[in-house]
Amino acid sequence: MFVLGIETSCDETAAAVVKDGREIFSNIVSSSLRFHKKYWGIVPEIAFRKQLETITQVVDCALKEASVSLEDIKLVAVTDGPGLLGSLLVGISFAKAISLARGIPFLGVNHLYSHIYASCLNRNILGLPFVALIVSGGHTSLYYVKDFFEIALLGSTQDDACGEAFDKVAKILKLDYPGGPIIEKLARNGNSKRIRFGCSNTKNPLDFSFSGVKTAVLYYVQKNLKVSSAAQYSMQNRQYNKLVWDICASFQEVVLNTLIDKSLLACKIKKTKNLVIGGGVAANKRLREKFTQKAKERNLNIFFPAKEYCMDNAAMVAGLGYRLFKKGWRSNLKLSAVLE
Ligand code: KG4
Ligand code: ZN
Repeated sequence: MFVLGIETSCDETAAAVVKDGREIFSNIVSSSLRFHKKYWGIVPEIAFRKQLETITQVVDCALKEASVSLEDIKLVAVTDGPGLLGSLLVGISFAKAISLARGIPFLGVNHLYSHIYASCLNRNILGLPFVALIVSGGHTSLYYVKDFFEIALLGSTQDDACGEAFDKVAKILKLDYPGGPIIEKLARNGNSKRIRFGCSNTKNPLDFSFSGVKTAVLYYVQKNLKVSSAAQYSMQNRQYNKLVWDICASFQEVVLNTLIDKSLLACKIKKTKNLVIGGGVAANKRLREKFTQKAKERNLNIFFPAKEYCMDNAAMVAGLGYRLFKKGWRSNLKLSAVLE
């Protein structure tokens, strides 16, 4: 059964055709990221306008690349939240229009749950139940997944999301937006033991807090590094560059250690041997290495999506939509955006 997935929760306009929840026939992602860079963050109004301009072409492209027509599509699955209101409404309205015009069902799916589902794409079924860690630009959460229609929240961030902390630290260092990829790259040359940053404790040990470590980086930079412009980093100033690398490495390491400790604790509490990671930050190579190593030591099975399915995409939406549809889930025309 062919499902058309649509994802427009933030700056990506994405559409995908997926067969039977796993086999990806096409996966098209168009991002308006370059229009937001100079603001060091996503501007909702720009994201919304770009979604409107792009959605028709992206869906068309996904169908063409999959060599299927709308007649072959038996379900439209669309992200209904959380995300930016205007952006979400573009995808939801488009899905409703296809559903009405073709007389086929459509289904709204949760963006964070679809990040969990991303690890199921192109592979055999994951061991259930499992603990899932979702680390993205807007969310950091731990879940206990009995099945995709029975998901319980174990903990979440009390302030900044993990990806947001990467983005803010990159801004403090005047590097680039989004911050994750550039911090990962610079951290490779750095000494992660040079500076002792720490993540704040939380009342619920499965919650997260990243605003303290971000502020610690800010104070350290104000005291030890004169950051005046992005050009400064690219200058052949070895001492300056070395300190930036070490800050990136020290920050990244403490954040990853926190993610690992809490995920392993969740597995212990829920007595499960299966751990699934998803969301944009899961693209980080160091994260994947460290998690894989720790999982091996603890005899846990660990699952990551392929890198292209860590970032926002519609294949994960089509996949989760299929799974829920098979369980009898449907949406009706009253469906609206769910912001939180
Ligand atoms: O899941 P995603 O594509 O969008 C949201 O739903 O938020 O995640 C985007 C976030 C950004 O904050 C970005 O800095 C972070 O993922 N990110 C990374 C890496 N690649 C993207 N963080 C750390 N290391 C990376 N390699
Ligand atoms: Zn996302």
